[in-house]
Amino acid sequence: MQALGYYNGSFGELDEMTVPMTDRAVYYGDGVYEATPTRNFVIYAIDQHVERMFSSASMLRIAPPFDREWLKGELNRMVKQMDTGDNVLYWQLSRGTARRAHPFPADAKPNLMMMITPYKFPDLTEYVSAITEEDTRFLHCNIKTLNLIPSIMAMQKAREQGCYEAVLHRSGRVTECSKSNVSILKDGKLITAPLDNLILPGIARSHLIEGCGKNGIPVEERPYDLNELRSADEILITSSTSFLRRCVKLDGVSAGGRDEARFQALKNYVWERFVRATEKANG
Ligand code: PDD
Repeated sequence: MQALGYYNGSFGELDEMTVPMTDRAVYYGDGVYEATPTRNFVIYAIDQHVERMFSSASMLRIAPPFDREWLKGELNRMVKQMDTGDNVLYWQLSRGTARRAHPFPADAKPNLMMMITPYKFPDLTEYVSAITEEDTRFLHCNIKTLNLIPSIMAMQKAREQGCYEAVLHRSGRVTECSKSNVSILKDGKLITAPLDNLILPGIARSHLIEGCGKNGIPVEERPYDLNELRSADEILITSSTSFLRRCVKLDGVSAGGRDEARFQALKNYVWERFVRATEKANG
């Protein structure tokens, strides 16, 4: 199939699929999600994504009615139905189906939804620009919940200004981007916001840190501000679907782009890691 949807075990052409109005995801955004690319029908970093989904669900006190192995089986079953092996796979788990009332429904069973669509991987040699924007999100950004309104507003503003991303900050302290993490290189070191409640523990960010280890680049996980961002040697935007993008313009002003060697080494590490992990299963 060209694009596939799944809801609690039923699947079909994505645009034909519907969900019940009383799924709490519809009216509360009461659920969690994950997204990762597939290549050659292989789901990238599946264990890390499944683990993070279970962790997000647990923080919202949603108990998945299945285990990790069953979920991985369902995800793989869906990917195998696709015409192309290169896709984005998205899945979400909502608290369940019930009439609208804020307390958790007594007997709701979580609903699993998936979407798979073909994906053209980004060209990492094309550099990007970003705007900076106040982070108006809530204080649970470490949980990958379905509530994304401030992120969507910030991303739209970025796109309307011809930019790729919005770098978010809380009164000057850089947190992350609307749908990515952001790290900087300065004087040969990687500086990246710490894993607290203000940012998502990004899986691509973890691969970037791994790449620093392989390339002898020290890593400082600590808060940094807009001044450090603007004067960074490199601004690196990471996410599962964008891998690692080099940001060379902030709010219309040239930025980063000053540590070619380390940027190339990290970009190559992140990309080659993906390529290696998603080689064809049968050669
Ligand atoms: N977004 N921060 C935010 C707010 C995100 O939404 C994402 C991912 C990331 C990067 O996480 P990871 O490296 O695990 O993809 C950071 C996905 C891609 C999305 O919403 O589509």
